[in-house]
Amino acid sequence: MTPIFLSQTPQSVRCYLSNLEIPTISGTINQTCFAGDTVHVMHATLMPSHVLSMTGSPLLSIRDLTVKYWLGSGTAPAPALHKVDLDVWSGEIVGILGESGAGKSTLAAAILTMLPSGTESTGSLRFQGQQLQQLDESHCRTIRGAQIARIVQEPGLCLNPVMRVGDQIAEVVRAHSQHDRRLRKEQSEAMLREVGFSNVERVYKAYPHQLSGGELHRVAIAQALVCRPSLVIADEPTRSLDVTAQGEILNVLRETHRKFGSALVLITHNPALLAGFADRVVIMYAGRIVEEGPVAQVFRKPLHPYTQGLLRLFPNSGPRAGWKRLERLPAIPGTLTEADQFAPGCVFAPRCPARTAVCHTDSPVVEIQQDRRVSCFHHDE
Ligand SMILES: Nc1ncnc2c1ncn2[C@@H]1O[C@H](COP(=O)(O)OP(=O)(O)OP(=O)(O)O)[C@@H](O)[C@H]1O
Ligand code: SF4
Ligand SMILES: [Mg+2]
Repeated sequence: MTPIFLSQTPQSVRCYLSNLEIPTISGTINQTCFAGDTVHVMHATLMPSHVLSMTGSPLLSIRDLTVKYWLGSGTAPAPALHKVDLDVWSGEIVGILGESGAGKSTLAAAILTMLPSGTESTGSLRFQGQQLQQLDESHCRTIRGAQIARIVQEPGLCLNPVMRVGDQIAEVVRAHSQHDRRLRKEQSEAMLREVGFSNVERVYKAYPHQLSGGELHRVAIAQALVCRPSLVIADEPTRSLDVTAQGEILNVLRETHRKFGSALVLITHNPALLAGFADRVVIMYAGRIVEEGPVAQVFRKPLHPYTQGLLRLFPNSGPRAGWKRLERLPAIPGTLTEADQFAPGCVFAPRCPARTAVCHTDSPVVEIQQDRRVSCFHHDE
């Protein structure tokens, strides 16, 4: 019975337990009492693996990461990421939000050490104390799948069409353990149960074409989590699903995250998927992180003009929500051009309604508090 003191905002909970700060409560809160803004949790059962000291080291620490794709002789390498700094802590859910081409998948590929050959990459990617860029491919393969896993975006295309899905999950176990065939099957079946299948025998023996889109996504989650990685990257895991199946997959992700405590990086175009789901959100524009902070704070009070424009594109829910009929849809004016990427100053300046002279000459980076960053000179105006 450890008394825990929490400060709570509507969408996120911060907990102070024995002087450790943890990003979210994962476990069972048995009894609480409210006092103003503070919730005092009197009795709680927390899983030790979910508890993390924010004052210790992050699980993943990215510094100054710049990635340029090689487009062939005679052309300058195309910049996809520019001086990205990001920490991911054990057990947290980080949402990465940005428009198409912002560099989200490039960031995922860099973390997974899966950038195409010939890509120029500088900066550092430190995972559990190891510098990922210094490891050779065979070492990276032992980490990929076992410690850092990805949930594939299109399982219908990524799964082998002529192999039973259960065997494809067991393959991941085989690659990372000494388990015999029986144990591999048992571990894979147990994982299928964890992602919500009751008829595990049928699913294990099925070929991909015999499963629905939602079922295939659950198989993809099982395949990613079967070795209990400490970091999971999901690059738009619900992109091709209808809203009902999307909700189902998010619930599976939430439930498996609660049980296994893996950190989850969820990449999406859709802010609605992150509200009430992620702990932190990172907003990307033109290969840069332009804003970062707790989801509830960023969504309630976005500071960067790009984030403000992005969130305006999504109507609130509720009976009077949505745009009025025949009303012009909101949009962020202009598009990102190659010239903007190379010009000095703020990369958003050509599209920004709040720009001033300084925005065209200097690059902004502002840290407001420890957990809130925004890259804008005029964020408080
Ligand atoms: N293999 C590649 N070769 C060359 N350029 C690439 C490659 N992959 C991505 N790019 C370029 O890098 C930039 C970032 O692309 P990326 O796929 O990371 O964006 P994204 O944010 O994931 O977009 P989306 O939301 O559409 O998936 C884009 O300009 C893209 O054209
Ligand atoms: S720094 Fe200037 S151009 Fe960039 S987002 Fe802020 S106001 Fe706009
Ligand atoms: Mg992408």
